[in-house]
Amino acid sequence: MSNVYVSPHPLIAHKLSKLRDVATEPKKFRELVREIAGLLAYEATADLVTTPVDVQTPLAITRAAQLKEKIGLVPILRAGLGMVEGFWELMPSAEVWHIGLYRDEKTLKPVEYYNKLPIEPTVSVCLILDPMLATGGSATATVEVLKRWGVSKIKFVGLIGAPEGIALMQRQHPDVPIYLAAIDDHLNEKGYIVPGLGDAGDRQFGTA
Ligand code: PRP
Ligand code: URA
Repeated sequence: MSNVYVSPHPLIAHKLSKLRDVATEPKKFRELVREIAGLLAYEATADLVTTPVDVQTPLAITRAAQLKEKIGLVPILRAGLGMVEGFWELMPSAEVWHIGLYRDEKTLKPVEYYNKLPIEPTVSVCLILDPMLATGGSATATVEVLKRWGVSKIKFVGLIGAPEGIALMQRQHPDVPIYLAAIDDHLNEKGYIVPGLGDAGDRQFGTA
């Protein structure tokens, strides 16, 4: 699992335990998704390229560094939406490009229903945001959309991954690193991650 990074950070582990708790209400759930996303954002962007700049401080001119790459955040609707604010707090000028996908309940295959990407890419690195990497169908479909758009530097940032989804991503897109807060045990017969946290979209939006 060379390109799979599972955060060892105790703050993430603590917040994730509250997120998993069936008693956590939507308001708290949304707060936790945003906070964990922000912490993962810090880890997932550690290798972004910078460019040197000269900055005039009150005392002297100094050589400093600024981000070189234009960042696109790509939340997969709906559940990925809740991760955007956590990233935006750290990179407020990132563009946000939504991709709408839902899993067909019977086949578990992703069905695309929203994509307004312009013809030419406007960013050079895309961070796909989705709390759950279950079968991996939604994540791999989104990577394919972004590669067709013309972006080659892509990362996936999620909260919980299942071994099945990680394996699919690694088989189909070994060039896309995966950042997670945890890897869980398995998928159940309905494609839910076990132990997981249930339906990430429903728990955020109160639609369970
Ligand atoms: C969930 C989740 C992912 C997808 C993961 O979305 O947010 O997008 O399932 O499953 P996969 O790895 O098997 O594709 P869902 O289809 O429930 O839509 P929602 O976010 O609108 O609730
Ligand atoms: N989508 C979710 O929201 N939860 C799961 O466990 C799997 C897919």
